[in-house]
Amino acid sequence: MPGLSGRGSSIVGWGSALPDQVVTNADFQARLDTSDEWIRERTGIHERRWGGTTASLSITAASRALDMAGLTPGELDLVILSTATSDQTVPATSAVIAGELGYSCGTFDLDAACAGFTYAFVVGHSMLQAGLDNILIIGCDTLSNIIDKDDRSTAVLFADGAGALVLKATPGEACLRGWDLGIDTSALHLLWCNKGGYITMEGKEVFRKAVRATIDSANSALEQSKLTSDAIALFVPHQANKRIIDAAAQRLEIPEDRLAIVLDRTGNTSSASIPLALCEAADKGRISHGDHVLLAGFGAGMTWASMVVRWGNSKQ
Ligand code: UT7
Repeated sequence: MPGLSGRGSSIVGWGSALPDQVVTNADFQARLDTSDEWIRERTGIHERRWGGTTASLSITAASRALDMAGLTPGELDLVILSTATSDQTVPATSAVIAGELGYSCGTFDLDAACAGFTYAFVVGHSMLQAGLDNILIIGCDTLSNIIDKDDRSTAVLFADGAGALVLKATPGEACLRGWDLGIDTSALHLLWCNKGGYITMEGKEVFRKAVRATIDSANSALEQSKLTSDAIALFVPHQANKRIIDAAAQRLEIPEDRLAIVLDRTGNTSSASIPLALCEAADKGRISHGDHVLLAGFGAGMTWASMVVRWGNSKQ
């Protein structure tokens, strides 16, 4: 089990962004061999957003998070962008974001597929423990660029979005209470995308492994944080399929009213899915200062990443 350092930290800003273009299930029904009913029942998705670039969505989400934190980009010490859909091979998209926002601190892209945002949070938080003060974590993917829009088995699932958090060194406790990162490479072939190609997925097998990985990883993070699921105010799982979320929540004994869901309106946005759901819950006042929030992601690899964070900031 990884240890937790004692330096105090808080989440002091959050923001998200979605493209303007709404693609409904009816849009697919009109041109593919699928139906609104199948998509809703098998996935929980009603509509999703396509459009924008990874840099443009990230910049919007990051600017909102920085505004809320009351920080200028020049005050940042590190930026990590979690993405599997960088806009170009070089430079990293985080460098393009730096050019637009105008910061010159360390910045890099990190790819752990749909589990990436949680990986980025854990890495960013460790840099706070190492002495940095203000860190921006962005999760963004533009999966509409890597799906075959005529393939009903993937086109209806994947979409675009971004979410960002600002972490700050503050007096008191660390906001990261427990975490778990891992990979099962026996599932490597189940979800794949070659450079310049389209996503292919063995959905049923990914589904089965995703439920197991979410439960086991969430339990590891809970155990490390010395909490049980009844102490969790909000569960924010990766938004891939409502049936995966429900199965995991049931096994973790977390009721529906403590679940964060945006999947119905966003589809699966990979690295953006957890921060999109977390930001919406925070905007709606569903989490309060001192609440414990459980985040759990899984994705291609098959990677997984879970963590328990204490919500709230030094200003509250
Ligand atoms: O974020 C990364 C991780 N990704 C995931 O977590 C995705 C995990 N998997 C899933 O969410 C589900 O497996 C899917 C939503 C992808 C598929 O649902 P399923 O209930 O597992 O369906 P299935 O793959 O067993 O397919 C059942 C049938 C098949 O037809 P046949 O072979 O039984 O005739 C599919 O061809 O449903 C068919 N099908 C569709 N039918 C209507 C597949 N996609 C569609 C569609 N509309 N869009």
